[in-house]
Amino acid sequence: CENKPQPVRVWVDGCFDIVHFGHANAVRQAKQMGNYLLVGVHSDAEVSKHKGPPVFTQEERYRMVRAIKWVDEVVEDSPYVTTLDTLDKHRAHFCVHGDDITTTADGQDTYHLVKTAGRYKECKRTEGVSTTDLVGRMLLVTKSHHQRDTDTMAIKTETELGHNTRSPWTGVSQFLPTSNKIVQFSEGKEPKPGDRIVYVAGAFDLFNVGHLDFLEKVAAEGNYVIVGLHTDPVVNRYKGANYPIMNLHERVLSILACRYVSEVVIGAPYTVSDNLMNHFKIDIVCHGQTSIMSDVNGEDPYAIPKEQGKFKLLDSGNLLTTKTIIERIINHRLHY
Ligand code: CTP
Ligand code: C5P
Repeated sequence: CENKPQPVRVWVDGCFDIVHFGHANAVRQAKQMGNYLLVGVHSDAEVSKHKGPPVFTQEERYRMVRAIKWVDEVVEDSPYVTTLDTLDKHRAHFCVHGDDITTTADGQDTYHLVKTAGRYKECKRTEGVSTTDLVGRMLLVTKSHHQRDTDTMAIKTETELGHNTRSPWTGVSQFLPTSNKIVQFSEGKEPKPGDRIVYVAGAFDLFNVGHLDFLEKVAAEGNYVIVGLHTDPVVNRYKGANYPIMNLHERVLSILACRYVSEVVIGAPYTVSDNLMNHFKIDIVCHGQTSIMSDVNGEDPYAIPKEQGKFKLLDSGNLLTTKTIIERIINHRLHY
């Protein structure tokens, strides 16, 4: 028999609450260290015990991690402290984590066992994005709406984030986007002849399981999915307040990490024009059940694909929106 090299099985684990492109970037780097990537995701009970209750349920978190295109397998309910038994059970050679220390409720390094055994490698943590940071941004969005609500006033957004963080359209982002990062996240695949090309446009702010359910339906409509991301001012026009929470560059990375997305239009026009339809050879344009706001001229942004008989409304079956995520976070905080 041939002497085939054994595939290198890499293990990553975490809470993956409010999945963001920092998580995706860690997973991407881990995948590059081997051939097969296993991601252990902690249960709600385990996260609650060590970190406090998560915003997203374990089922939602498992689904979000499975949708990251570099993930080969999700291991549900993995222990908070990574044990050698866990690695062995899944035939993982080593474990990868970002270059920051994670501790248990008792202050113990969660990776002390794998570190001692020499089965631990580090990847570079993505600066400027974290679950804590996103929660801060979300609370900032609501601030003006809750000024007279004494309960919510207890949320320390102002003191936590300072007074100079109020600029519109995610002026609070500390992330430095580069062309290199976009290339690393890109699929780099052109549509093949005969591919059925599907186009969707939107904000895709705080990419979440609602978007994911939608994109799964979208992917079933064809075999090449192009996502048009609206610019920050366009999103702000139709979502209002301090939306979007993530700026265009961040939203690009989040959506590129999703396995159902083939290509992204960075700053798509709000109205789907004839020109856009022809340029990308779009077969079908889809939208979910959320309302469709008219363009500045009062026109329906989907008038052209509708006239061409190339428009389809889909039902993601999921009512989650950025607003409901914010509500969950506020309810959460009020419990402390
Ligand atoms: N991670 C990263 N860059 C970030 C955030 C997380 O590389 N900006 C990595 C972590 O180092 C870890 C993996 O993502 O290897 C999953 O970790 P998880 O436990 O979900 O994240 P936290 O480190 O708690 O991230 P956050 O602060 O965003 O909650
Ligand atoms: O709101 P946003 O512009 O991010 O939505 C992008 C697309 O995802 C829209 O077509 C919207 O209808 C769809 N969506 C959905 N189900 C959700 C959230 C969004 O179908 N829960």
